[in-house]
Amino acid sequence: MQDRDRDIESVLLDEERIRAGVAELAARISADYQGRDLLLVGVLKGAVVLLADLCRALTVPHEVDFIATSSYGSATETSGVVRLLKDLDREIAGRHVILVEDIVDTGLTLDYLLETLRPRRPASLEVCVLLCKPQELRVDVDVKYKGFDIPSVFVVGYGLDFAERYRNLSFVGTLRREVYEQADAR
Ligand code: IMP
Repeated sequence: MQDRDRDIESVLLDEERIRAGVAELAARISADYQGRDLLLVGVLKGAVVLLADLCRALTVPHEVDFIATSSYGSATETSGVVRLLKDLDREIAGRHVILVEDIVDTGLTLDYLLETLRPRRPASLEVCVLLCKPQELRVDVDVKYKGFDIPSVFVVGYGLDFAERYRNLSFVGTLRREVYEQADAR
């Protein structure tokens, strides 16, 4: 048995639901950004899979850039302190920017990124996420494009990792509690 089979408890969103959700997000964004200079900013590393699928489903021209933050203090709990690890390659002044993120948990990462990017005077700045855990939100983040609300459970797959693993799963699944409790105790 592979670790991945042993560690996954259940499938929360299967490949088909994710595909439909991403197609819907892409259709909305394509409709909203016709004729605009669109820049998708993927938040590394979790958003890589969503961004890859989303950008291929868009019917409007756009560019892609990446930004990276540090997130968790322990295996599954945020430290509450967000740091910029990698900045954008290009200026965003006057451009229509969508931040693309895998998940909103406490909202602290997106709040930090929005506060960091806003002073650079983009023409507009919106957020697109695949997943949101509404019960965990600690700050108000305006998410214009959201795929799915999920309960307050730790999930992996479709870009989301546990200790850098499972990003490649084509579904979003919950991780057995023992797996991350063991890691948190270390
Ligand atoms: P926030 O700042 O608490 O909203 O957390 C955002 C970041 O934490 C995301 O970009 C993910 O990298 C990570 N994260 C939050 N929840 C999960 C989860 O359930 N599984 C894997 N990573 C998560």
